[in-house]
Amino acid sequence: MITIEELRPGDEEAAHRLGQQAFNATDPYDPARPRIAPERHLAAYLDGAIVGQTRRHEFGQYFGGRRLACAGISGVAVAPEARNRNLARRLVTESLERAAGDGEVIAALYPTTAALYRSVGFEVAGWWTERGVPIGELPRDDGTVTWARAELDDERPVALYDRMAPDHDGWIDPPADFWRWRALHARQDTKTNRYLYVGERDGEAVASVQYAYGRSERAMYRIDVEHVHAVDGHALRAGLALLGAHGTTADEIRTTLPVDVLELHVAHAQRTSVHSTWPWMLAFVDLPGAIAARGYPAGVSGAVPLAVDDPHRPANSGDWVFSVADGHGTLERGGDGRVAVTSTDLASVFSGHRDPLRLARAGRLGHPTEADLGVLRAAFAGQPSLTIFF
Ligand SMILES: CC(C)(COP(=O)(O)OP(=O)(O)OC[C@H]1O[C@@H](n2cnc3c(N)ncnc32)[C@H](O)[C@@H]1OP(=O)(O)O)[C@@H](O)C(=O)NCCC(=O)NCCS
Repeated sequence: MITIEELRPGDEEAAHRLGQQAFNATDPYDPARPRIAPERHLAAYLDGAIVGQTRRHEFGQYFGGRRLACAGISGVAVAPEARNRNLARRLVTESLERAAGDGEVIAALYPTTAALYRSVGFEVAGWWTERGVPIGELPRDDGTVTWARAELDDERPVALYDRMAPDHDGWIDPPADFWRWRALHARQDTKTNRYLYVGERDGEAVASVQYAYGRSERAMYRIDVEHVHAVDGHALRAGLALLGAHGTTADEIRTTLPVDVLELHVAHAQRTSVHSTWPWMLAFVDLPGAIAARGYPAGVSGAVPLAVDDPHRPANSGDWVFSVADGHGTLERGGDGRVAVTSTDLASVFSGHRDPLRLARAGRLGHPTEADLGVLRAAFAGQPSLTIFF
């Protein structure tokens, strides 16, 4: 018999092993590591043995400068002997039900197969991208920030991230345990040379940079940047300059900073290269809640009638009027439904990833007027990204 339920007490190590097998991880089970609450860790049991699982992190995600309660779905895994029986789909669907119960308005995840998650209401809403930048392309230190080494569990980088993230559509706001888990993981990894620096300006922490040495064929090492957090562009530039000061021993850095941020500080952006990319996907858990929770550009106002089709969460479906004014949006019942859109396409617009004009040209937006398109394009304009993998 198969059941989907919360992870049973005592099954933490078995769940860890299931995840290791699915994702080729090798780190030993450590009972001291922070764990997600059991009600956020669902498991599939086959005759009492755990054969599948999914975790739901208590994230926020920023859109338009505001934080939306977001279910961060991760660790979806089904044992090879139990695959192709709909277990992954059932686990994610049940997780989204619980997300709705907890007031989460959206859900986000990194897919290994988009088909699985499209089939439960997710759509690609942005990309995580790791770029290589030749070390000589990084800016030179201008002396405005003073750097000092810090311990890997220093909490200032988290505070700096919290100041930086709201300006970046798509960035997540992880809970304290998530950061603690990452710091512990970094500390326990004694095989890697890893350094954290915090930079101050006028006695105030304004940037942090964490990096590890990776393998390079042409130099002693490359630099894998684990984060650059900065309160403004000057502080970010100083962080990149700190990395650039490794030019005699390293040939490049690898970073997940969004390209529109990076290109401001790299003169010959054509010399950067993409090493790895991963799409991330978004689903509406509570569509009117999500529309009301995100921010919109000040100065944009208008109303657009939508006919939303969401076969997964029927409460999101039907005719709505989307209105935006003074940086706030609402979704209210009514309208003539001339802009017909699936909830998945709408998710890709909501994040700023997909231009409504493209959807209209592809025949996926019903019969919008030019004014409808103008409002939608202006309201959801953005360039979403994600720098943290989960
Ligand atoms: C991905 C995984 C969780 C799927 O588990 P599962 O229980 O077999 O999946 P389901 O039976 O619920 O399949 C649901 C849908 O997922 C997709 N899917 C499942 N296995 C797939 C595969 N090997 N290749 C491509 N798509 C696949 C299909 O769209 C499928 O729908 P369909 O059968 O109607 O075509 C499982 O193969 C696994 O654990 N893989 C290794 C870890 C991993 O990739 N996890 C996902 C992290 S985002």
